[in-house]
Formats: sequence, C-alpha cells, structure tokens
Amino acid sequence: MEVKVFGLGYVGTVTALSLCQLGHQVEGIESVAEKVKSLREGKLHLFEEGLDEQLNKVCESGTFIPRQKPTSFKEKRNVICICVGTPMNADGSVNLEQVRGVFSEIEELLRGQPEDETLVLLRSTIPPGTSRSLFKEFLSHFPKERLDFVFYPEFLREGQAIEDFNKPRLFCLGGESDCEKKWIDFFQLLPGFSQNLWVSFESAELIKYAQNSYNALRITFANELGTIASSYGVSHEELYKLMSGHNENEKPGTYLKPGFSYGGPCLSKEVEALAWLGRKSTHEFPLINEIANSNERHFERFLTSIEKLEAKNILFCGVTFKENTDDLRHSFVLSLIERLINKPSYLVPAKLTILDRPMVISRLKSAPIAEKEFIRMISLDELTLGDYDLIIKGPFSLPNGNLEELKRLKVNVIDLGFHKETTDFPF
Ligand SMILES: NC(=O)c1ccc[n+]([C@@H]2O[C@H](COP(=O)([O-])OP(=O)(O)OC[C@H]3O[C@@H](n4cnc5c(N)ncnc54)[C@H](O)[C@@H]3O)[C@@H](O)[C@H]2O)c1
Repeated sequence: MEVKVFGLGYVGTVTALSLCQLGHQVEGIESVAEKVKSLREGKLHLFEEGLDEQLNKVCESGTFIPRQKPTSFKEKRNVICICVGTPMNADGSVNLEQVRGVFSEIEELLRGQPEDETLVLLRSTIPPGTSRSLFKEFLSHFPKERLDFVFYPEFLREGQAIEDFNKPRLFCLGGESDCEKKWIDFFQLLPGFSQNLWVSFESAELIKYAQNSYNALRITFANELGTIASSYGVSHEELYKLMSGHNENEKPGTYLKPGFSYGGPCLSKEVEALAWLGRKSTHEFPLINEIANSNERHFERFLTSIEKLEAKNILFCGVTFKENTDDLRHSFVLSLIERLINKPSYLVPAKLTILDRPMVISRLKSAPIAEKEFIRMISLDELTLGDYDLIIKGPFSLPNGNLEELKRLKVNVIDLGFHKETTDFPF
C-alpha cells in the first residue's frame, strides 16, 4: 500500500523503514533538508541499532523515498502516519506546533485528492483529548467514507527500536473500531495487531504517559530503596534479586487497578517504617516519604465524594482492611465511618449501617463507634437493600442476588474497589 510518514526522527524513521519491510511503498516527509539529503544518500542522520541495514535494503529496492514536501498519492487507497515531535514547553505542557503543522499539510493534501480513501494514523505522543480536537479542527469536513482517523501510539525504546516495532510489548489502537474491516489489509500486517485491541482515543493517548511515568516511578523507587539499603549496610544487589524474583502467585496487573486507599497491619506500618529509616539517614527520599501522604489524599477524595451525596441512610458493606479477613487494623473503611460520624453537621439525622460477617460484627460491638445511637450493625440475613439511599461497597462481597437487586433499585453506590475486577472507580 502507498504510505506517507510525516517526521523522520527516531520514531518516524523506524516506522517508515519497518513499513517498507512489511511490503509498503513509503514516502518519508521530513521538513529538515539535511536529514532528507542524508537519507537520500543512504546515510542515517541518527543512530539506531540495525537501522542502517534496513535503510540500505529499502534504498536498493526503491520502496522508501524521503522528501521535504509530500507529493500526490498515486493509489486511490492510501495511508498517512504522523510521527512528528511533541517536545515539552517550559511549563511542562506539550508543544503541539509540529503536529498542528502536519495536520494543516494533510488537510491540503487530502483536499487535492477528492477521490481517495485515506487512513490517517497519529503516532506522536499527545495528551488525552488532542486527537479528537485536532480531527475536529482540521479533518472533520471530509466525508466519513473518504477518511478514517486512528491514534496508534508508539512504545519503542531507542536502542532496541526495531525489535520493539516488530514485537511490541503493548499494542492498541484508539478510535472507532468500525474502520478495522475496511483497512484490515493494512492493520493485519502490523506486528502485534490482533482484533479487540481497540480503545478510546483518550485511553490510547494517556497510556503512553502512564507507562512511562510508571517506569520512571519504578526507577525512582529502586534508586531511593537502593540508597536506603546502602545506608544500612544492606546489599542492594541482594534486595534487587529478591524483589525481581519471579512470583507465580502474582497476576500481571496486581496492585495496578485503581480502588480505595491501602491499609492493614503490614502495608501502612511498613511504608511508614521505610520512610522513617530514610529520614534517619543523611539523604532525602521524597518518593518513599510521600507514599503514605498520597494514600491519605486518596482517602480524602473518597470522603469528599461520599459527603457530596448528602445521603441520609448509608450502608457500608464490610469494614475490614481488605476482603476475606476479619482484621480491622488500619482499616480505612473504619476511618471513613469515623470521619463521617465526627461530622455531625453532615450526618445528623443520617443513619449508618455496617454489614459484615457475624465474627467482625461481634468484635466491632466493643469499639467506640458502637456507642453511637445512629449506627446499626447487621449480618447478611438482616439486610434489606431498599432501606438505604447510599451503599458503600467495601470488602464484604454481596451475593449475586443482592447485586442484581442493587441494579434494579438504582440506589447510589460508591465502590471502594475491593472486588477489583468489578470496580466502578468513582473518579
Ligand atoms: N524517541 C522515542 O523513544 C519515542 C518513543 C515513542 C514515542 N515517541 C513520540 O513520538 C514522537 C516523535 O518522537 P521522535 O523522538 O521521533 O521525535 P524527533 O524530534 O526525533 O523527530 C520528529 C521529526 O519530525 C520532523 N518534523 C517536524 N515537523 C514536520 C513537518 N511538518 N513535516 C515533516 N517533518 C516534520 C522534525 O524535523 C523531526 O525530524 C514524539 O511525540 C515522541 O514523544 C518517541
């Protein structure tokens, strides 16, 4: 297929040459004349392992033509890939000048070819919402039959970019999946492509920032941890081996599903203790020091969203620190209840009911909250869901029958995310 790749930097050059290898005829558009000249002479203007060999191959076969300005398409069905830069502005925001420039050029190009069908793929890393707004501003006046627009994020790592293109660790397409059938001849050649990898434009846009920030978080955590370890004469090598050891019990994605604040006898205590160990040494460890603070802030967001509902009759399903335990130590659900009942302006004349296992209820009955006249504690056989105007789904799983009734009743529900796969995150 005939493809134009705009922007021949790291991503664009790898994308363009890899698309040639897949059998496409590629025109690479690069605004910097020296880069075009160099590529035309078969010399790379950047270093990337294995890319010079790819360039030699495609130069010989004539499947790659670099130019400063795009020429008209010769085929009626064609593809455009946008790989221009999105550098950072001084205030941390994303500079979209290059992307906007290319959209304007593409608009002009497509206007000149009214008979063509084009698939436009945007690969530059951009904030959520940008694809939709750029499409609206520049391309939405073209008829749907003529133009499909997809955000196709790139996750390559410099130094192993060709391998990453050919075996992507993550592949997704953002936009309307209904164009998949029309362009299946192109999509199915992309390494990593399989059906059902469609997400919204915004998810595909944000995942790039999420992935890289998560990588940065792990690097920063490892660096802080290694320094704390060294301060106490602990081998960071041994620690690394233990932490990166294969854990068969842990599913991919563990601890990545957003939900409620962490609590319990171990996490809270040990996060605090590691921060304390750091504070006692001579260095500063802002990341480790702020973990507990971030957890508290998250708790406050839940509290605010509960208060906003101004419910008068609230049911808490479960109060332990997580599901399948009777342990109430460092339970943030209990903290939620305590904060609510200590805000009389909000709760009076609200009623609050706690549902849990009989063993938990009997232990709670000796806790200070049990003295409040507006708190009731019940077990499952006493539950009547229709009594409540707000249900907080905590660490106690409601049987399926109750969950279905809950849907029918249309009661306000806040899910604290303990039943992770089913969480409906409230933010
Ligand atoms: N470098 C990486 O490792 C990497 C990995 C994944 C995603 N990304 C993202 O991909 C995008 C490109 O990254 P990069 O590192 O290749 O950037 P880059 O700056 O190396 O390349 C961008 C190229 O686009 C050219 N350009 C700008 N405007 C143009 C126009 N109107 N027409 C033609 N060419 C034009 C520039 O001259 C430059 O050569 C960025 O959004 C980046 O965040 C980068």
